[in-house]
Amino acid sequence: MSLRLMPRVDACLLFGLRVPTRWEWVAAALADPVATLVDHAHCEMKAATTALMMAARYAHLPSIADAMLALARQEIAHYETVAAELRRRGRHPEPHGADRYAKALRANVRGVEPHRLLDLLLVCSIVEARSCERFGLLAEQTLDHALKDIWSEFATCEAGHHALFVGLAETIAMKADVVARLAALLEVEAHVLGSLPCEARIHG
Ligand SMILES: [Fe+2]
Ligand SMILES: [Fe+2]
Repeated sequence: MSLRLMPRVDACLLFGLRVPTRWEWVAAALADPVATLVDHAHCEMKAATTALMMAARYAHLPSIADAMLALARQEIAHYETVAAELRRRGRHPEPHGADRYAKALRANVRGVEPHRLLDLLLVCSIVEARSCERFGLLAEQTLDHALKDIWSEFATCEAGHHALFVGLAETIAMKADVVARLAALLEVEAHVLGSLPCEARIHG
């Protein structure tokens, strides 16, 4: 089944997300596509900088560092695509405040290694999964062909990034520990998502 046609509940089942995105969010995001794109650009830049942070922090772990460097390049390319679309509309990416969603999830990352790395990988996997679900919804629902193409392509990419992070987690921890920790963080994510208003922000 193509992601463009994937019902939101199926996307949740695929990634283990505990709650589907509310339709109110889809309506809010599509009602103000420029605001959604401005926030989207920020998300891509944040994904790139997080990947670079991890490449630096775990430079002594080549499998992690190499994967994060490659990921950063892809996220920068995503940022450039979104920035170009904004410029086509006479706008630019803008300085951005704190991402409440990502910040709330990151608050659950434990401070001691190797738990810290495991949690970082799993939090990133969840952010990618939610991004994939939401880009898929936007691609499915928008009537704008340019945005449909961008969001459809990105939904596929973010699904791959989700799999990358889970796969890396399984290289540094026992499978049972990965499954248990991911389940706990998915419960947190559902709570965080439910606490945020439906706004024209990718993770708002
Ligand atoms: Fe991305
Ligand atoms: Fe990504």
